[in-house]
Amino acid sequence: MKVGLHTYAAAAGSAAPTPHWRPETSAWKLELLKAASISVPAGVHLVPADLSAVPLVDRLVEAGFDRRQRAFVSWTGVTMYLDRAAIARTLGAIGGLAAGSETVFDYVLPPARRDVAGAEYASFAESVGASNGEPWITSLATNQVAAMLEEAGLETVAQPLLEDWVDKALWQRTDSIRPYRL
Ligand SMILES: C[S@@+](CC[C@H](N)C(=O)[O-])C[C@H]1O[C@@H](n2cnc3c(N)ncnc32)[C@H](O)[C@@H]1O
Repeated sequence: MKVGLHTYAAAAGSAAPTPHWRPETSAWKLELLKAASISVPAGVHLVPADLSAVPLVDRLVEAGFDRRQRAFVSWTGVTMYLDRAAIARTLGAIGGLAAGSETVFDYVLPPARRDVAGAEYASFAESVGASNGEPWITSLATNQVAAMLEEAGLETVAQPLLEDWVDKALWQRTDSIRPYRL
């Protein structure tokens, strides 16, 4: 399952319940996909779910998700919009999925742990988000995330920084793209 406004499910052709925050976002996304002649694979379900208010898995089960099957939960770019209680609740729900389930997500570091480029990016993204009514409300340190994962009964496989996401040789570039710490 994938959380948020993206087209990964359509691109990968995978079957997945895809929660969005607002119902109108799902309707708009479907319109855009149709206009671009991108078909939505059978089995992809767009499920409105405000994770700050509703438990993730309960909402998905209502929409047909089989909680006995192991699942992969991708919720990149989402935790910064939720408070800590909602993040912990969602991690707990993922921790309660069938054995072998996995998740990938990201979070923003507290201001003191950002580098200059990360702080600049955060300042831009925070102002855009806030002006759209979606402010960043939570930043987390790596050890806090590790504790939340343990509390949720999840094993941490890795917590890489952006600079670690790809082979270090790929950061030796002549353009201005650089890893930042955020
Ligand atoms: C920056 S986008 C990330 C989209 C996508 N997951 C990605 O990685 O490209 C932020 C997403 O957070 C989701 N979001 C924000 N607040 C949320 C909430 N309260 N409940 C559920 N999703 C939320 C929205 O669906 C929005 O698409």
